[in-house]
Amino acid sequence: MKALITGANKGIGFAIAQNLGKRGYDILLGARDEARGQEAVAKLQADGLSATFVKVDLNDLEGLASLSDLSDIDILVNNAGIAGNIATEKGALDMSKSPFDYTTADLQETLNTNFLGTHAVITNLLDSLSADAKILNVTIPVSQKYWMPLAYVTSKAAQNAMTFAFGHQFEKDKSKRQIFGIMPGAIATDLNGATAGEGGMVRTPYEAAENITSFLFDGKNHNAELINFDGTVIDNYEPGLMGKNLKDIAKNGLKRKFGKK
Ligand SMILES: NC(=O)c1ccc[n+]([C@@H]2O[C@H](COP(=O)([O-])OP(=O)(O)OC[C@H]3O[C@@H](n4cnc5c(N)ncnc54)[C@H](OP(=O)(O)O)[C@@H]3O)[C@@H](O)[C@H]2O)c1
Repeated sequence: MKALITGANKGIGFAIAQNLGKRGYDILLGARDEARGQEAVAKLQADGLSATFVKVDLNDLEGLASLSDLSDIDILVNNAGIAGNIATEKGALDMSKSPFDYTTADLQETLNTNFLGTHAVITNLLDSLSADAKILNVTIPVSQKYWMPLAYVTSKAAQNAMTFAFGHQFEKDKSKRQIFGIMPGAIATDLNGATAGEGGMVRTPYEAAENITSFLFDGKNHNAELINFDGTVIDNYEPGLMGKNLKDIAKNGLKRKFGKK
């Protein structure tokens, strides 16, 4: 059994790698920096776990093509990501920074990393996944009103749309593969500079890993779902658009107009 976790040299990714290693998986530890990646591999090996470094740099789309050399991956965790310049003028990290304070460069960098990089990881690995592989994307809610870090939420919204699109295609293809997103809640990592226990809400990466991996082993089919840490499932963005009329248009109207004769 093999699991590839991206961004696994620290934070939630490292905790997931450790968790899956303890469950008996051979860990392919994805990291962009070899020294940081090998250090994390050594920590897992010191605990008697099976781990190998794999270079995964989400900003090197050409380099990601070499992922297709891998084989028989049962679990792919797309964890690597950035929060997209949430630093304020005073240097503090602030998820509630005004959406008007993000530049075009901030948006491009974050979309490139979180969306295009993750897209390239998945598409390069499609032929390397086992027939019933699970792809898990570590994500966030993108439509709540409490904090709206524009670069981060738009990149994850694109990633979430990809989760739905690929999941629906797996279903159409009658594939046994699954792709789904987990929203772990607020976790204390370098990404947000938060402290565990803060406001009674923020949890450790190890608690997050326990929660996240539980959805891999609960025996349920989670394909094309976004799952909140409390188990709530969001399976579409616009519930009002799931009615009969839209389904009918999708099935008949669009095919009539654009379908092959
Ligand atoms: N922390 C939270 O509250 C929270 C909540 C919901 C979702 N998430 C998601 O959880 C995931 C992990 O975040 P974290 O909180 O554990 O943050 P973290 O401690 O900052 O870890 C992020 C990981 O992603 C890697 N990474 C960043 N840019 C990369 C790139 N271009 N190519 C490859 N790897 C790259 C980092 O590598 P380096 O060490 O080399 O920088 C690091 O391994 C992210 O996708 C994040 O959006 C976090």
